[in-house]
Amino acid sequence: MPATDADVVGVVGAGQIGRSVAHAFAERSPVVLVDRDPAAVDDAIAAIRRAHMGRVLRGATTVSLDTVMGNLRCATGIRELGKATLMIENITESPDDKLELHRELHRVAAAEAVIAANTSAVPLAFLAGAHGDRTDRLLGLHFMMPVVEIRCLELIRHPATSPAALTATRDVLERHGLSAVEVGDAPGFVSNRLLMLLVNEAAAVVREGVAGAREVDAVLQGCFGHRLGPLATADLIGLDTVVRSLQVLQRFGDPVKYAPDAALLDLVAAGRLGRKSGIGFFAYGAGASPPTTHRSESDQGAHSR
Ligand SMILES: NC(=O)c1ccc[n+]([C@@H]2O[C@H](COP(=O)([O-])OP(=O)(O)OC[C@H]3O[C@@H](n4cnc5c(N)ncnc54)[C@H](O)[C@@H]3O)[C@@H](O)[C@H]2O)c1
Repeated sequence: MPATDADVVGVVGAGQIGRSVAHAFAERSPVVLVDRDPAAVDDAIAAIRRAHMGRVLRGATTVSLDTVMGNLRCATGIRELGKATLMIENITESPDDKLELHRELHRVAAAEAVIAANTSAVPLAFLAGAHGDRTDRLLGLHFMMPVVEIRCLELIRHPATSPAALTATRDVLERHGLSAVEVGDAPGFVSNRLLMLLVNEAAAVVREGVAGAREVDAVLQGCFGHRLGPLATADLIGLDTVVRSLQVLQRFGDPVKYAPDAALLDLVAAGRLGRKSGIGFFAYGAGASPPTTHRSESDQGAHSR
């Protein structure tokens, strides 16, 4: 189903995932990308341009770079989002900052707009406090990176989310080649309730010297068929975001089970945030030996990351 003229997607937060979300929607629809930090906006434009040129060169898309960049409008104030029919919030994983921003989104959103939170772990029940009597239009969209390649996401339903908002959102996702698995509201939903435990324990294995990062990932890739190992996945997400997600899971879930491992805290304190800083569990960039992507025989031809 092609995208319609009616789809205008607002994306707030132009960091790691926000820019990737904006890229995926801008392949087919007008997108307004907002971040309060002008440097993040500039970085995002450059990153989307690079990522899309790569896709064109690999033959992964027939959508031209001009189309994507022509669909993208960037701003630093959220009033620019006024016309969006779907607003996707992707700001830093801080529950209190998100709550504040959701209050603003509630004020600027058109009556018919759907407001989505893209969060690793913050429950919608917490954000619902910002939406007054309009919790019917609040839901969660938990995307995976890079969104143009990992086209599956979690669609999170709050008890008050209306069937109309769910249907409208599913339709927009489908028009953009994205498919959602619908789940209920809980800290970390399904994906990060599980993934964050795996990443945290993998970090502990490395800290204890049981195995190196490469070996830990090789076990999960080779023996269990994971496309990317847990530590390379953590580097891709951003180790600061991983730690914040664990802390959110502690706050809204179990403070003991989700306590971030010292290895993660030490890497973040040292500024080793993963791909975005050039080094995390693995090193990236010229001369480095980054983690490999595992593709099983049955996986040949499928997408990879
Ligand atoms: N990184 C991932 O793979 C991933 C995947 C799915 C979901 N998430 C979730 O998405 C959210 C963003 O993650 P990220 O990795 O992109 O973080 P990030 O730190 O890379 O980017 C966050 C961006 O939000 C901006 N921001 C912060 N407060 C703002 C405000 N009030 N108004 C406008 N912009 C604001 C910052 O300037 C920054 O550019 C988090 O909640 C995270 O848990 C991340």
